[in-house]
Amino acid sequence: MAIPDTLKAGLSFPAIAAPMFLVSGPELVIATCQSGMIGTFPALNQRTTEGYAQWIDEIQGALTPEDARFGVNMIVHPTNSRLMADMMVTVEKKVPLVITSLGAVRDVVDAVHSYGGVVFHDITTVRHAQKAAEAGVDGLILVCNGAGGHAGTYNPFALLGEIRQWYTGTLILSGCLSRGSDVAAALMMGADLGYMGTRFIATREAMASDGYKTMLTQSSAKDIVYTPAISGVPASFLLPSLESHGITKDMLKDMTTKMDMDHEMSDEAKAWKTLWSAGQGTGNVRDILPTSELVARLKAEFSEATQRFAQTNLV
Ligand SMILES: Cc1cc2nc3c(=O)[nH]c(=O)nc-3n(C[C@H](O)[C@H](O)[C@H](O)COP(=O)(O)O)c2cc1C
Repeated sequence: MAIPDTLKAGLSFPAIAAPMFLVSGPELVIATCQSGMIGTFPALNQRTTEGYAQWIDEIQGALTPEDARFGVNMIVHPTNSRLMADMMVTVEKKVPLVITSLGAVRDVVDAVHSYGGVVFHDITTVRHAQKAAEAGVDGLILVCNGAGGHAGTYNPFALLGEIRQWYTGTLILSGCLSRGSDVAAALMMGADLGYMGTRFIATREAMASDGYKTMLTQSSAKDIVYTPAISGVPASFLLPSLESHGITKDMLKDMTTKMDMDHEMSDEAKAWKTLWSAGQGTGNVRDILPTSELVARLKAEFSEATQRFAQTNLV
């Protein structure tokens, strides 16, 4: 139960800015890492493997050993035809952290370990956590109820407690963490790191449109719908963005889509461009900030929360 040593370097806030489809790119990753928090992006945010390699070069060129480490997200699924080529680039460039989604595969884990990299895998159920642990990943990202993107359905206390009973690797908690005090609470529950998606959409460096960022600051938990209708597996979306395209909550019941990563990158992937994803934590996102300011605020909130807790003197 710890943060791997290689990721502790340069880390001054115990959290990861989560990889987000069409939202996270080099600018956000660099600003996050320079602020002392781990920055990440999905490999598929670039249209080609060559583009992916260029982004890594850009990030590695901008970061110094004093900055926090960065990571990439790989979709390990038969429909991701780029996986092999992207993994070769990842190994060649020695990306410090690889976050795998969907499949936890021993070959991918071994490839990353071969150069001293770390693999975290995101899961929504105990069964998937067990499979990932068997594949030898270094940490599990517990994607809980209310998260942005492909969220889980379990309450974080329930899922984290159950997995901590048998898992000794790094645990990362995901879902509705918007404030520094939320990250402090996650650590108090037994997580090693927090994982923040939605909060980082509303940063100056995120690739999301201004309309998307503004909608986040005006929405709250009641505006989030959790539906498989857009991408084939259940994900959280901002209802106002659906409604502005004529899609009502009732219509979602009749819509079906099949998951296909190549398709996600095709023109129809514009779905995610126009139908915006966010988690229930959006109600705690009220401003659009430069990432450095956001992380400075998160650190102050974290510190205030831990001091407040220490002063309760209840036990
Ligand atoms: C717009 C958006 C896109 C996302 N895309 C991805 C993705 O490509 N890969 C991935 O592993 N997770 C993705 N996620 C999930 C996040 O990595 C993370 O688990 C989630 O945002 C955490 O919950 P929060 O948004 O409540 O902080 C996405 C989330 C959002 C909001």
